[in-house]
Amino acid sequence: MANKNALVTGGAGFIGSHVADRLLAAGYDVTILDNLSSGRRENLPAAARFVEADITTPEAAAVVREGGFDVMCHLAAQIDVRRSMDDPAFDARINIIGTLNLMEAIRTASPKTRVVFSSTGGALYGDFEPPPSAERLAKDPEAPYGIAKLAVEYYLAYYGRVHGIDTVALRYGNVYGPRQDPHGEAGVVAIFCNRLLDTRALTVFGDGTQTRDYVYAGDVAAANVLAAGATLPPAARLDARAFNIGTGVETSVNTVAGSLQRAAGSTTPIEYAPARAGELLRSALDTRKAHEVLGWSPSVSIDDGLAETFRWFAARRAGATA
Ligand SMILES: NC(=O)c1ccc[n+]([C@@H]2O[C@H](COP(=O)([O-])OP(=O)(O)OC[C@H]3O[C@@H](n4cnc5c(N)ncnc54)[C@H](O)[C@@H]3O)[C@@H](O)[C@H]2O)c1
Repeated sequence: MANKNALVTGGAGFIGSHVADRLLAAGYDVTILDNLSSGRRENLPAAARFVEADITTPEAAAVVREGGFDVMCHLAAQIDVRRSMDDPAFDARINIIGTLNLMEAIRTASPKTRVVFSSTGGALYGDFEPPPSAERLAKDPEAPYGIAKLAVEYYLAYYGRVHGIDTVALRYGNVYGPRQDPHGEAGVVAIFCNRLLDTRALTVFGDGTQTRDYVYAGDVAAANVLAAGATLPPAARLDARAFNIGTGVETSVNTVAGSLQRAAGSTTPIEYAPARAGELLRSALDTRKAHEVLGWSPSVSIDDGLAETFRWFAARRAGATA
């Protein structure tokens, strides 16, 4: 029997390259579509086919139309929350219009392709109720980035209800791990790793007790593979095919700083700076649905994951200076 055929948009990026690695390991043929705006060629797995294209273009739509994909893991995005605030139209052009470009290609020419969309849990739920947040909770995205992710989830429900397209939304916590850069939702991990390697103080905004749900990139990639192959009930409305992908654990910035200091064997001081206005104080995701329906649960502890991430940053630094 022929291998299953997967498209990974954003597969040259941090999480997408881990998704591509895991799909290949699970026996998929993998095509990566990426415009390399933040992704890197060195992240591309050798066994994947690579198309350099922007998701907003007819060329990208043609790849989707003509590829005969069983699944499209859609990770390509403008991921910088601050940039989405500075230029919401740019964010919407990539994150909403770019996604619709691919979805229309699926609707018109490849309606059997399952879509696994990379959404956010960390930037979606408000603070109406204390964490952990379940999928059905009220949404209150703070920034255009989260608003665009929520808009796409509504579109996915529409494509399911009206056109019978098979869609899944994975709402990630703050994803960290090897290959991450400082601009994502768990950018603090990359920033602290670089600071420790420079033996510069770690800057914490506020008192450092603000919490996030930090989830390891390898675990997020495993969730994508499960979502690509799972048997699921029909998708017809918001939340029905949405799954939180996190640990359910609130981890403070102080804990992250301490764990990375231990991983680095460093006593670099922590400096406290004024809190950032409007920052969400607590966040964690209830992941029981992903466990029950997808059979997914996180496997990497925060200390092990942070130590592995620090080792990757240190090795990259050593490689760059060798
Ligand atoms: N990092 C996190 O903590 C986090 C949390 C929640 C959701 N997500 C989502 O996961 C996905 C991957 O994020 P990441 O952290 O790996 O970021 P990343 O920047 O490393 O990956 C995004 C990839 O998309 C590519 N890309 C950007 N714009 C494109 C375009 N117009 N056309 C084609 N390719 C384009 C980039 O070159 C890059 O390779 C994104 O959809 C992001 O919103 C990330």
